[in-house]
Amino acid sequence: MKTAITELFGIQHPIIQGGMHYVGFAELAAAVSNAGGLGVITGLTQKTPELLAKEIARCRDMTDKPFGVNLTFLPSFTAPPYPEYIAAIKEGGVKAVETAGRSPEQYMPALKAAGIKVIHKCTSVRHSLKAEKIGCDAVSVDGFECGGHPGEDDIPNMILLPRAADELKIPFVASGGMADARSLVAALAMGAAGMNMGTRFIATKEAPVHDNVKQALVKATELDTVLVMRALRNTERVLKNKGVDGLLEIEREKGASLEIEDIHEQVAGVYPKVMVNGEMDAGAWSCGMVVGLINDIPTVKELIDRIMVEAEAIIRQRLTGFLDGVEVQKPPRAVA
Ligand SMILES: Cc1cc2nc3c(=O)[nH]c(=O)nc-3n(C[C@H](O)[C@H](O)[C@H](O)COP(=O)(O)O)c2cc1C
Repeated sequence: MKTAITELFGIQHPIIQGGMHYVGFAELAAAVSNAGGLGVITGLTQKTPELLAKEIARCRDMTDKPFGVNLTFLPSFTAPPYPEYIAAIKEGGVKAVETAGRSPEQYMPALKAAGIKVIHKCTSVRHSLKAEKIGCDAVSVDGFECGGHPGEDDIPNMILLPRAADELKIPFVASGGMADARSLVAALAMGAAGMNMGTRFIATKEAPVHDNVKQALVKATELDTVLVMRALRNTERVLKNKGVDGLLEIEREKGASLEIEDIHEQVAGVYPKVMVNGEMDAGAWSCGMVVGLINDIPTVKELIDRIMVEAEAIIRQRLTGFLDGVEVQKPPRAVA
């Protein structure tokens, strides 16, 4: 399949793996790139620019295909040394960066001078238009369904994607709630040039996380995520667990006066506990509603191949079937 996104990043399939804290290590990024998508290393999971340089080198050893690095611009008292992270990306020969969080405007000259393609993750049309204006090459439009930070507008992708298509000139991928061929074909129909998946990629053989995490994703349904930190205007969609129950209790008690210090225990340092140790009740970690569509733990290649085979079948059989008057009742699935 050829789209503006496959052409922009020099990849075979229009599928991107979103940056994920403590998940987006070289193993997963290389597996996604080797399977024809764009794998992404999560920059800030590497505690220093030197460690990121090593992670990029490790990924380079595992794939000769293009891969990217995620740079998340967080509101924080002590900002990470972003220029040094960008230098590590540039020196590592990485040609794709997924930015997220705050606008990457101040870093665009450095990224562009290094010949890096920038895809900025946005949760609104206005932020997408700003990304286009400051020279981003593409946008990842992240709907309300998404795992992680959906912003504060609460617009799901059925509305957000066609709105983005109406307004944007640069290509965009659909992000949030994407799991399979049906997601991809729907995203393409709504104007996207591909899709970005986060949660789905965690439940794969290569994702370098504790098996408890993968099993929890297979077990959970679309009813098992919840929004936290709304009062802080830092809303995050997470998987429900005992730690999150405690967090919600504190949020109920504090109401609008909630401060980040009040929930420090439930949000700080949780990722290594969950992803490395498999402590599933440790606290808040990002997970999308799409968890309701995750029923297995395939290899990344099996997942991506299945998506592409089924997408072709949906387009060629089901959709053209409607035009030809031969209705295929259910979207064709390679795996029941
Ligand atoms: C466990 C987890 C950690 C994430 N960490 C980050 C991150 O560090 N930076 C970032 O930009 N996005 C992060 N995300 C968001 C993903 O890149 C992606 O935008 C999101 O998962 C898409 O929604 P989906 O989960 O429905 O596919 C994370 C998502 C998950 C599930």
